[in-house]
Amino acid sequence: MVNLKKYRFFELDSTNSQAKRMASKEKEDILIIAERQTAGRGRMGRSFYSDEGGIYMSLLLHPSFSGEEANKITVMAAVAVSRAIEKTFSISPKIKWVNDIFVGNKKVCGILTEGAFGKEKDTPCYAVLGVGINLFEPKGGFPEDIKDIAGAILKKDGDFDKEILIDAFLECFYDIYSGGEYMTEYKSRSNVLGKKIEYIKNGEIKKAEALDITDKGLLKVKDEFGISELSSGEIKIIVNSIK
Ligand code: BTN
Repeated sequence: MVNLKKYRFFELDSTNSQAKRMASKEKEDILIIAERQTAGRGRMGRSFYSDEGGIYMSLLLHPSFSGEEANKITVMAAVAVSRAIEKTFSISPKIKWVNDIFVGNKKVCGILTEGAFGKEKDTPCYAVLGVGINLFEPKGGFPEDIKDIAGAILKKDGDFDKEILIDAFLECFYDIYSGGEYMTEYKSRSNVLGKKIEYIKNGEIKKAEALDITDKGLLKVKDEFGISELSSGEIKIIVNSIK
């Protein structure tokens, strides 16, 4: 069992924001958990659906590696969440590069890593790893704008103890974070590698084939202009296009 301080809230704006507010005082890793968020954030300034029924948590970390490598935290977390879901529910999730976890063709989890970096070196003072898992399907279903893409692990509200999945995630994450192998599994769980994809860069839709994921977590693709490496910050993969 991973031994770290857990702070629980019924409602927060965002567990990532709360972790950042607490970062200056907390020198050890801590976990912030909320039952719901009023301003849950996703990548690229998007909002993240955060009503009751999900698990919204942020891990405040103090990594020793450089800011450039902090991207790896997202990749590690994607493997850890997938392993934890598989262990707990005997289903095998897929990872859509870089931070989305899919069960079947529905996204059940998103990951957002944010950090503060030292002024002189590219050393993170802290990193906040935010994980949002759609555990139970919302009573009235997911909102219109995400209902085609969002899915839940459990179809009905029930008495499953969220703590089981939270602890399984912590166990799996710290196994990896302390040096365990994860890249082979990340690639084997990918629902993008080897596939024809479409992605949006600078507002333009481009077609490519996904070839590999580099050690820095970049997606290597081949398109009509040759081979390039895409960073998660600059592109969005169109899910329906994955073939
Ligand atoms: C994404 O899908 O783009 C990432 C979503 C990350 C959501 C989690 S929920 C817990 C934490 N707090 C936030 O505001 N965001 C992350």
